[in-house]
Amino acid sequence: MRHFTCVNDIGNLKKAVQEAFEIKKDPFKYDMLGKNKTLLMLFFNNSLRTRLSTQKAAMNLGMSVMVLDVNQGAWKLETQRGVVMDGDKSEHLLEAIPVMASYCDIIGVRSFAQFESKADDYNEIILHQFMQHSGKPVFSMEAATRHPLQSFADLITIEEYKKTDRPKVVLTWAPHPKALPQAVPNSFAEWMNATDYDFVITHPEGYELAPEFVGKAKVEYDQRKAFESADFIYAKNWSAYNDPNYGKVIHADRAWTVDSQKMALTNNAYFMHCLPVRRNMIVTDEVIESPQSIVIPEAANREISAQVVIKRLLQDNY
Ligand code: CP
Repeated sequence: MRHFTCVNDIGNLKKAVQEAFEIKKDPFKYDMLGKNKTLLMLFFNNSLRTRLSTQKAAMNLGMSVMVLDVNQGAWKLETQRGVVMDGDKSEHLLEAIPVMASYCDIIGVRSFAQFESKADDYNEIILHQFMQHSGKPVFSMEAATRHPLQSFADLITIEEYKKTDRPKVVLTWAPHPKALPQAVPNSFAEWMNATDYDFVITHPEGYELAPEFVGKAKVEYDQRKAFESADFIYAKNWSAYNDPNYGKVIHADRAWTVDSQKMALTNNAYFMHCLPVRRNMIVTDEVIESPQSIVIPEAANREISAQVVIKRLLQDNY
């Protein structure tokens, strides 16, 4: 694996999950693999889980870690080529990338959709510039269209908790006051579509995801119907994908909040969310605090997914 940006990069999913379980049993088995190697983690956007879990994963592998919050303390970066840089951005990404790459062996990048240009977001221009100009293995710590470390952790979690071979997994839109990217639902759909699970997506009309991410999933506009017999409920908000509303909140209908009445329609489903979550918007206190909520073990698995990915990048490139 040269880079890790989507489900296709990880190869056979069963093997990847097996490797994750092995690492979970013995996290320090490969603690010499990263000796004298440095991970640079670059954040264009905020993070709690990704920052800590990825750093811990790299430390488990014996790596040194540098973290840079691009917008706090570093020079403001221009990302578009051809711009006359007479504004507040002092440095261009095309110089910054090779400079930063010269100090490290692997680069993790977090760069969300900016909602200024759908084409730029869906072409992943920032992530691709890192892959093109750094000369180093690059992995996504959530990009404009995908959050693969999260989706891998979600898959590991479902494999740990599932009670049947082919569980019914439901991705449900839920309300949120601000416009959020489609990266988590896109990515979750991509990873679920790579399994043989019964995978259903439910959302209000107007919140359709890009067809390439919906893939073979069933789309059900009636949330209650979608919840029937579900084994896992994965809640997430996202903004509109389709034009002319790209990146906008069309409405934040509180009738879509995940509550106990809806969970009662399921097959005693587990509740999942990538976090951070807005309580009593996305999910009620009662559901997220219930024994069926597995949001904490799901977040803990972020360390495991990151460790599998960084381990493979070290093994395949050094
Ligand atoms: N789920 C997730 O990526 O969390 P952070 O945004 O806190 O990293």
